[in-house]
Amino acid sequence: FMVDKGNHRHFMEKEIHEQPEVIGHTLAHYLDFVGGKTKDIALPFDFAKLDRLYISACGTAYLAGSIAKYWFERYARLAVDIDIASEFRYREMPLSPNSAALFISQSGETADTLASLRYCRSAGVPIAAVVNVQESTIARESDAIFPTLAGPEIGVASTKAFTCQLSVLASLAIRAAVERGFVSPERERELVRELSETPRFASAALKLDRQIEKLARELAQVKHVLYLGRDTSFPLAMEGALKLKEISYIHAEGYAAGELKHGPIALIDESMPVIVIAPHDRIFDKTVSNMQEVAARGGKIILITDTEGARRATIDALETIILPTVPELIAPIVYAVPIQMLAYFTAVFMGTDVDQPRNLAKSVTVE
Ligand code: AGP
Repeated sequence: FMVDKGNHRHFMEKEIHEQPEVIGHTLAHYLDFVGGKTKDIALPFDFAKLDRLYISACGTAYLAGSIAKYWFERYARLAVDIDIASEFRYREMPLSPNSAALFISQSGETADTLASLRYCRSAGVPIAAVVNVQESTIARESDAIFPTLAGPEIGVASTKAFTCQLSVLASLAIRAAVERGFVSPERERELVRELSETPRFASAALKLDRQIEKLARELAQVKHVLYLGRDTSFPLAMEGALKLKEISYIHAEGYAAGELKHGPIALIDESMPVIVIAPHDRIFDKTVSNMQEVAARGGKIILITDTEGARRATIDALETIILPTVPELIAPIVYAVPIQMLAYFTAVFMGTDVDQPRNLAKSVTVE
């Protein structure tokens, strides 16, 4: 069927704005908001008996899996091996007999992800997939599918599929935590309530569009951008860099903030903007010291944080994008929104073909 842009200039813009709604739909599929519980889901394995979960995917889906690793390990005490599918498929990795494999793909047709799935199949590992296209090959070849209810995603740059993947993965991590006995019914109720607030916070983030558009006008003048974050904001920093490079063609890198002094700090000068993703959390002060290192070398910082983070980051020449204070669990989903808008508006200023960037295909069905 036909999908149109509605009142939006590009599909990407429309898809960014659809997020509160599609995140809500997706979460409702996995969570009982009224009962304050994760729903029972049919699984081809028993979370309580797993000693490892293997996740593989490509591009943005890989970065969703990289964020989910923090959740499964933190909440469910389940060790996750996360891999880029094109590496996993050829790596000849020994797979544990008490493991399961999870593949993440918007299209469900990505060649390397499918090959990784078949590798696990031949090793006898139970297989589940987070997919947006439920009639896809990856969906068909999996023992269980966890759909994202994002609706068709047209823009080559993945936006709503990403935040819906995160919504599914956060729900699954909480479910795993319950089944493995690491979350009490009270804590489960609290986490489900936190997740239920994601659409509201994503809407609030969308309201920052005018400020972000202004910052994007400056970003469109530069040649290189560095994104930094810790914890779940680290994969999100890589997602920010991926989004910017794929649609604006500006060179960008995402780094763990703690790695700055192990190399990338050599790049910092007045012409190098550094985008720091840092909600105020238990490691916030560590990130502040990284920002001081950047500021001392004349680097211009754009800090994406909350009110408390903005208050504590007393650094000169700092632009701040202030989001509502959100629970730690849902921060990467909410913080994805300004990251996407920043890439989007920068690409618009650059005059690139936002929905169909050069050299890229929506679905990579060949190696
Ligand atoms: C994201 O913005 C990209 N265009 C790309 O990295 C994409 O996420 C990747 O190709 C994986 O696609 P899939 O989710 O359809 O498997």
